[in-house]
Amino acid sequence: MINKPFKKIDNCESWEKQNYEFWENQVKKYGYDVKSTNFDLLAEELELFYLEKFVNDGEVICDLGCGNGRTIIELAKKKQNTIFYGFDFVEEMVDVANEKKKKLGLGNVFFYLMDACSEDLKVKFFSRFDKVITKRLLINLKGESKLKAIENIHSILKDHGVYIMVECFLGPLTKINSIREKLNLNKIKVKKFNEYISKDFMRQIEVLFKAKKQIDFESLYYFVSRIFNAYLSTGEPDYLASINKLAIELTKIGVRLVEDYSPEKIIILQKLSNNRNIGGKAYENTNSK
Ligand SMILES: C[S@@+](CC[C@H](N)C(=O)[O-])C[C@H]1O[C@@H](n2cnc3c(N)ncnc32)[C@H](O)[C@@H]1O
Repeated sequence: MINKPFKKIDNCESWEKQNYEFWENQVKKYGYDVKSTNFDLLAEELELFYLEKFVNDGEVICDLGCGNGRTIIELAKKKQNTIFYGFDFVEEMVDVANEKKKKLGLGNVFFYLMDACSEDLKVKFFSRFDKVITKRLLINLKGESKLKAIENIHSILKDHGVYIMVECFLGPLTKINSIREKLNLNKIKVKKFNEYISKDFMRQIEVLFKAKKQIDFESLYYFVSRIFNAYLSTGEPDYLASINKLAIELTKIGVRLVEDYSPEKIIILQKLSNNRNIGGKAYENTNSK
């Protein structure tokens, strides 16, 4: 039985509270629709296209901050010999995911209510997964919480397990915004409770993970949608504009015209051995086998 994470932090306007309430409202509004977790349907399609390449038969895979479960439900449909676990700290997200799983009769995907930063996660799922995915989870966490989540990911991975980080980085957003500014387009803002990944953060986690590969899978699409389509649109740009769809198709067939213009990237990280240090603090495994 998994303990429930906090439901709400009362009487405080912390980023944690904003984070929780934002996602709770999204799922109440949109349920299993992709809009619960992402308004950019085409970007979502591209993420899935690339993620699929990293899922192998016989693996046990965790999606931490799985939202309404769409990503691993889609993967579980295609990869019947892979076991998927999805964790999210919003009860309604987990309920919607479980309903969909039941409706589809999928036996290889499981959803649980769980806070990515909790001790519970580490204790209950220690060394259980071949791979852990985070798809825009870390950007919702700040400071110590972000580090705690990273330590938990390290703990729940098997030895030499792989962390597939699908997160948004600060550098490319700054580059896109500087072009937008020159074209008199509004700057793209991040949500108040979001904190994009910095180079410093990536350096901090080097004690726990070794970066094996970086996949800049979205630059062409992001450049086309956030510069070309934004500039050419009268009024609100349409996420599903033909020019955006073209960028997706070109990316899928391997066309790369620009680099490092998408905040979102996939970083493949390999777990290093335990009992290392992060942020100067001793990090110990209390659950050694
Ligand atoms: C941007 S959405 C992404 C959802 C999913 N990974 C996807 O790509 O569709 C972020 C998700 O992280 C979840 N989340 C945020 N903070 C969390 C935490 N501390 N523990 C677990 N889940 C969290 C939110 O509830 C939300 O479902």
